Amino acid sequence: MIDRLHERDSVVEIRGLWTEFPRGRGQVQVVHRDLGLDIRRGEILSLVGGSGTGKTVLLRQILGLQAPTRGTVRVLGAPPAELSARGAAAVGMLFQHGALFSAFSVLENIAFPLRELKLLPDELIRDAALVKLQMVGLGPEHAHKMPANLSGGMIKRVALARALIMDPPLLLLDEPTAGLDPAASDSFCELLRGLHRELGLTVVMVTHDLDTLFDLSTRIAVLADQRVIALGSAREVMAVDHPFIREYFLGGRGHRAALALPS
Ligand SMILES: Nc1ncnc2c1ncn2[C@@H]1O[C@H](COP(=O)(O)OP(=O)(O)OP(=O)(O)O)[C@@H](O)[C@H]1O
Ligand SMILES: [Mg+2]
Repeated sequence: MIDRLHERDSVVEIRGLWTEFPRGRGQVQVVHRDLGLDIRRGEILSLVGGSGTGKTVLLRQILGLQAPTRGTVRVLGAPPAELSARGAAAVGMLFQHGALFSAFSVLENIAFPLRELKLLPDELIRDAALVKLQMVGLGPEHAHKMPANLSGGMIKRVALARALIMDPPLLLLDEPTAGLDPAASDSFCELLRGLHRELGLTVVMVTHDLDTLFDLSTRIAVLADQRVIALGSAREVMAVDHPFIREYFLGGRGHRAALALPS
């Protein structure tokens, strides 16, 4: 069933999505207003938008952790909560604050989602976690380290290995390079590019970092005014006349990164 669904062109279909949060005294905060978005198989779609525009909420809705107020989110043709209830593990997520369990070793962190399923013997789970550790470019000598003893770049890699432990076809990344120095950020992008190619992943990435954005994205979706105001290549998106886009892409920092784009 799931395999057949993998053949679909759209991995994620979002239609008429409204997200509202109560703000007391009968007031509501509207985060998404009739938002629509299709994510195609095999792409790296980057989501950009100001702080508080609902990027993380959107990822959580794709993961099935949060329900929309109205409208539909479908992942591989089904509501995400239904997929996870069937143990389909269609989606892996690298969370914004990369949180590893501080009392667990690297290997225990990576194995955690698999252990929770209680389907496989410990030995197999351990082997699967070791494979993922290697996949993110870390040797077995790191397996028994504790998170407090890892660099920021290593923490992101371990969190990525955990997101990949169930071999999901769809990977969600919330600010994967935030807080990394330029060298660590570049090497993390390189790792992501390789995994995307080798595993044939579909990737949805939230990023504020223009270098990461231009480096990895096959398409960019811009969130503003509670919806997707622009969708396409970097050039297409930058051609849209909107105050956020002018400020974000054509302000000093963005302009320099855009000039480095291949023509
Ligand atoms: N569970 C929740 N209950 C109430 N309000 C929420 C909840 N989750 C998010 N919000 C609100 O929804 C808005 C969007 O939040 P979200 O975390 O998606 O923003 P974001 O675009 O990821 O921002 P940032 O770039 O700073 O990470 C914010 O105003 C936030 O306070
Ligand atoms: Mg966020």
